[in-house]
Amino acid sequence: MTISDTASTPRIGIIGGTGVEMPDEGDHFAESLVPTPFGEARVFLGVPDGPFADVVFLSRHGANHDIPPHKVNYRANIFALHALGARDVLASFAVGSIAEHIPPGGAMAIDQIIDFTYGREHTFFDGGELGLFHVPFTEPFSRALRGQIIDLAPRFGLNLIPSGTYVCCNGPRFETAAEIRMFGQLGADVVGMTAMPEAALAREIGLRYAGVAISVNWAAGVRGALVLDMAALEGIRGRLFPLFLETLRAVGTSVHNEEDLIERHDAFSTRPEIATAAARQVRHG
Ligand code: HPA
Repeated sequence: MTISDTASTPRIGIIGGTGVEMPDEGDHFAESLVPTPFGEARVFLGVPDGPFADVVFLSRHGANHDIPPHKVNYRANIFALHALGARDVLASFAVGSIAEHIPPGGAMAIDQIIDFTYGREHTFFDGGELGLFHVPFTEPFSRALRGQIIDLAPRFGLNLIPSGTYVCCNGPRFETAAEIRMFGQLGADVVGMTAMPEAALAREIGLRYAGVAISVNWAAGVRGALVLDMAALEGIRGRLFPLFLETLRAVGTSVHNEEDLIERHDAFSTRPEIATAAARQVRHG
């Protein structure tokens, strides 16, 4: 399969973070390696005529959870989702809790990001063939997708905290207690290692993108020793995939207002010179 074979098929995209390595309905998906100018991306495509024919699922850390946060090929992943026809994408993130109102086991539709990552390939517009482009990122997540998932969550038995700030650290080590104290003072509610540069790349390429953070621990120093509670995530996992699906399918039919259009500015398709350069990179990539 090549990108050009699939790009015209509209799809919805799901990025599974820690603990969400595979859709439960694995039989309805086929694994595929997608070539991109930035390297290969491994995705699971819903099989044609199956119930998930419109879905492309991507496991951020790999199906065996062996790709650390700083080694995830974010550019290849986001490029592949776009090239495969995904325009709306939801992502899950395992996080640690900084704020009291999101204890472990809690889930949050994050609406802001503070980026403390470094050394990651974080843009498509690095001054090469695609040139220079300063993408707006005041609101890093799609309002339409966030609104939709917040509305639908109770139907899936999920009590989503409707907003909150995610601070992204480089990892793979956890933070020091002093770092977490500082992040709390800066206004962060949860801490994770993967929302950046994923969210920025999604915006650069014109995806509507939003994410749900699921807390699996109190962050370093908040309540004694840092203890991961993956069972908390296990309890939510089974409800997350159907909620993501329902949200993405519902938003696809919603009326798009001006804000949506800004989120969908899709530099890669609307600026001919960028589209041409991207196509050339795919051919030679
Ligand atoms: N810090 C950073 N990333 C994380 C944490 C944390 O405490 N828990 C889960 N992902």
